[in-house]
Amino acid sequence: MIVKTITLHKFRNYDDLTLEFPSGLNIIVGPNGAGKTNIVEAIQYLSLARSFRTSNDQELIKEGEDGASIKAILSDDGPFKKTLQIDFVTSGKKISLNGTPLKKISELKDVVNVLVFEPKDVLFFNDSPRIRRRYLDTSLSKLTSNYLDYFSRYEKLLDERNRLLKFTHPDLLAIEVITKQMVTFAKQISLYRKNFIDSLNETLPSLMANLEVKAKGELKIEYLPFVEVSKDYEQKAIEAYKKSLDNDLRYRTTGVGIQREDIVTYFRGKPIDRFGSQGQKRLVALALKLAPYYLTENKEKRPIVVLDDVLSELDGDHQQRLITLLKNWTQVFITATTFNGRDANVYEVTPTQKIVRRNFL
Ligand SMILES: Nc1ncnc2c1ncn2[C@@H]1O[C@H](COP(=O)(O)OP(=O)(O)OP(=O)(O)O)[C@@H](O)[C@H]1O
Ligand SMILES: [Mg+2]
Repeated sequence: MIVKTITLHKFRNYDDLTLEFPSGLNIIVGPNGAGKTNIVEAIQYLSLARSFRTSNDQELIKEGEDGASIKAILSDDGPFKKTLQIDFVTSGKKISLNGTPLKKISELKDVVNVLVFEPKDVLFFNDSPRIRRRYLDTSLSKLTSNYLDYFSRYEKLLDERNRLLKFTHPDLLAIEVITKQMVTFAKQISLYRKNFIDSLNETLPSLMANLEVKAKGELKIEYLPFVEVSKDYEQKAIEAYKKSLDNDLRYRTTGVGIQREDIVTYFRGKPIDRFGSQGQKRLVALALKLAPYYLTENKEKRPIVVLDDVLSELDGDHQQRLITLLKNWTQVFITATTFNGRDANVYEVTPTQKIVRRNFL
């Protein structure tokens, strides 16, 4: 699926803007503050109904206005088209597909899928585990049909367990019953996470070989589950929750479970968070973010890729390698302050919001 056209109305710094995009590589250039990220933010918003820059939708509405909208025409590069419209109002947002309101935001995952890489992703390895879990959860929600369902059911049960833990005299029997139910979903989630990490480990070496000039980087992701994924998972998980119960009662929250898991990345045999250079972390984080592209088996569903401000952070060789890798991908958007390459559609954003398409492929 690609974005054929996008129309922004009162979105961020734009009054009204319509852009047409072909498949392949699209580069959005312009000076700082011109509105480049705002365009890719709108594109990315289509896939999750959540901005990668803010969790507050109100920030997306142009200052001084009451509402905003993003309208996109999506297509599989054939005659079949879909119209996705998101209207922001002060009380929230409305999303409709071909004129019909969506029942659940999760339906979007079957409409359009966008992978984003931005400069702050260099912190991926040093940030809190929550960031890495979010990566696993978002990737898996898009790659499989059941993950999100298992995950939300686990989270609901976890909320309920935490609620019960907050009573002065907690109902221990009810906690036990809920914990048992949690284990059923934890097992599925953990299995999905393990399989995903196994596939990452198979995919990453060739992806890294394309990105790295010397291409001898060995990369390994290790999953740190709270209970080993094995035959007696249920029993071990129940034991783990039981062992944590005294602490849980003291702190009034659940201290173990899939909501506390993490991954460790080894680059050339060493944990990258402690031994990697900034540039290495950036490239490896980029490889991780891009990997789901290859893991999407159905080619029609392969994600659109957004790289915000990434080129300027890479040296010339790495820039060239990245462009060479991405130019055959379904649809890619890259923002940059300058771009002198040839193999792309270039859009120049000027501070007056005029957008000039420089060369057509
Ligand atoms: N809700 C809003 N209303 C009006 N203007 C906004 C709003 N949100 C952001 N802006 C403005 O949009 C402008 C462009 O932002 P954007 O982040 O897209 O720039 P950019 O081209 O990516 O710049 P850089 O190269 O520095 O990353 C900024 O001047 C910012 O103040
Ligand atoms: Mg920007």
